[in-house]
Amino acid sequence: MQKKDIVMSGIRPTGFLHLGNYFGALRNFVRMQEEYECYFMLADVHSLTTHPDTKELAGHVKRVLAEYIACGLDPEKVALYCQSHVPETTELYLYLNMLAYKGELEKTTTFKEKARSQPDNVNAGLLTYPVLQAADILLHRASLVPVGKDQEQHLEMSRNFANRFNHRYGDLFPEPKAFNFGSGLVKVPSLDGAGKMSKSENQSATIYLSDSDDAIRKKLMKAKTDSGPTAPNTVKPDYIENIFQLMRLVSDEATLVSFEKAYDECRIRYGDMKKQLGEDMVKFIAPIREKAESIRNDEGYLRSVMEKGAAKAGASAAATMEKVRAAIGLKYY
Ligand code: TYM
Repeated sequence: MQKKDIVMSGIRPTGFLHLGNYFGALRNFVRMQEEYECYFMLADVHSLTTHPDTKELAGHVKRVLAEYIACGLDPEKVALYCQSHVPETTELYLYLNMLAYKGELEKTTTFKEKARSQPDNVNAGLLTYPVLQAADILLHRASLVPVGKDQEQHLEMSRNFANRFNHRYGDLFPEPKAFNFGSGLVKVPSLDGAGKMSKSENQSATIYLSDSDDAIRKKLMKAKTDSGPTAPNTVKPDYIENIFQLMRLVSDEATLVSFEKAYDECRIRYGDMKKQLGEDMVKFIAPIREKAESIRNDEGYLRSVMEKGAAKAGASAAATMEKVRAAIGLKYY
């Protein structure tokens, strides 16, 4: 039998999951579980780089795990685990740190953003964040990494670290690639037209998988629009394109086409469009929210999923680390 390609990805448990996480990452995870050997992780160690206060961590970890499953991930088919439960991650992270240069780490966009937003806590973990991410991926010798557009640079760095390791110590790691079914990587914009949906910033312009029906409708009604185009077939401004993009994600084709046509013919009514989008969004999110809530309340089940995931991921990690230590020359007999 041909060996399956290996898939790895993760999400930081720093808050509630949102549409960006779903369409950038989770939707791909769910489809990939049928065809590949998959490792999906909760990046709890990464979250310490920005959220040193861990009061809410356990709650977020359990909630995100429940949301993973509610979105369709099957713990029997994939390894669902917490990063901190696979300590080999930190060993590989340490070795990869010797192959990562200060200059390239300082130039990383996410590092520069975080250094700006938390000037009192520019810790070394923040600087070496992409090295830890590379360790997560290379630990399973994964070649496909389903992520949203914002992770592109981190993936490029993972490839660089893998290549440097291979070059120095012999071929061991495949080159990991960012993956999305369909065309390019996805970026789900925020509803105010400024930036992307996010777990902790911009909450009124982000739709969460845990939002109530009412909250979803209200947030969408407040999304930024204008008085509409004045000439046929006008190029859409970004914030209007965003609303169409959300409609493309959750509405049916006929609905989308009818609003596209109304826009091109300058007779669009954004109030109606947002109302329709609200209903389609509620239909999409409500079943996920309800399922996640019921899974979240089953602590025994969540614990068994976590333990099983850690055992599966741990076995894969242990096998890789044997090879890593031997390749580096840390085996003396
Ligand atoms: P995180 O937790 O910020 O986001 C998790 C996933 O959701 C995607 N995403 C989005 N996609 C489209 N539009 C958006 N608005 C949007 N917001 C978030 C992200 O691209 C990501 O795929 N560093 C990672 C976590 C990580 C990881 C890994 C990922 C740790 N180790 C190993 C892959 C492989 C992060 O912070 O994702």
